Amino acid sequence: MFLPVDSKGMRKLKSNAPCWCGSGHKHKRCHGDRSLLARPRVEIGEVSPVRSVPDHIVRPDYVANGVVGTGRNPQVVTGGDIERLRTVGAIAAQVLLDASAALEVGVSTDAIDEIAHDSYVRQGAYPSTLGYNRFTKSICTSVNGVICHGIPDSRPLEDGDVINIDVTAYLDGFHGDTSATFVVGTTSAPIESLIETTRQATLRGIAAVEPGESLTIIGDVIEPYVLAFGYDVVREYGGHGIGRTFHADPHVNHHVVRSPEFIFEPGMTFTIEPMLLTGARQFTQASDGWTEHADDSMPSAQFEHTVTVTEDGVEIMTVNTVGQSAAGTLGDIGPVPVD
Ligand code: MF3
Ligand code: CO
Ligand code: CO
Repeated sequence: MFLPVDSKGMRKLKSNAPCWCGSGHKHKRCHGDRSLLARPRVEIGEVSPVRSVPDHIVRPDYVANGVVGTGRNPQVVTGGDIERLRTVGAIAAQVLLDASAALEVGVSTDAIDEIAHDSYVRQGAYPSTLGYNRFTKSICTSVNGVICHGIPDSRPLEDGDVINIDVTAYLDGFHGDTSATFVVGTTSAPIESLIETTRQATLRGIAAVEPGESLTIIGDVIEPYVLAFGYDVVREYGGHGIGRTFHADPHVNHHVVRSPEFIFEPGMTFTIEPMLLTGARQFTQASDGWTEHADDSMPSAQFEHTVTVTEDGVEIMTVNTVGQSAAGTLGDIGPVPVD
């Protein structure tokens, strides 16, 4: 049993906080065994050949010219472009629903990629990750101790695997980016608790956005929330401006930071996508140049939405045409945990 505590005692659970293990008991009466969360280290499998996209589907420029990372200015979406962003956001949300519905023990992440790929194409959209910086698949699949950017491959999903599916769609000049984490087969209270805490942290971060508020509110809301459950939030990766550019400024920290003031204005569009860790903070990129493995292989979870600042609050753009998302919506925010 370990309950890591940093030099400032940041990760020490309040004794009255709900225990991280999902027992529903106060931490002081529980202290479950964190090894209950452990999952096998994911070995990287075979990556299948690149899937084709019909010629009539328009690609983002970087697919042809290989250049990403230029023009990172914050994305402010106005007029008819807001509807374009809604449309592509709805497509991304639907791809995430379609791909996650296929999750089953024995199915490979490559098969999930194929289902996602077909869903983008059926909806007339391009999978933004396909050909982005030499990424060759249509989604990211990050299993167990893989924190993010896992490449779909031949590895069959195992009972109890924790998998994040990250979808980015491109249509009519705009990108929409969303992800959610799922359990395959048999779940457990500690894993459910990790996933639900990550979802709540994401939705709470979103709900804090409004015009006039500062970008740093997101980390101010998310980090204390996740620390109270004994998890950590990744600092090396954050959310990003998104719109006509896939990855733009600002960088959205999910932890508490002092950084230059960036104030939200109507139309600003960005992602919120915290990754929660159950083990130590260290992680290492695999030789494929993408997959980020937690060094101790302890599972992580992530949720992501693309959001736009409105005149009086915030709108989640990555919900399907009937308002659904596998990542949840603001109505799913639960009561404040009591202490
Ligand atoms: N969708 C990821 C994000 O949330 C980015 C994936 S880029 C890839 O920003 F190349 F790894 F696919
Ligand atoms: Co993103
Ligand atoms: Co994403």
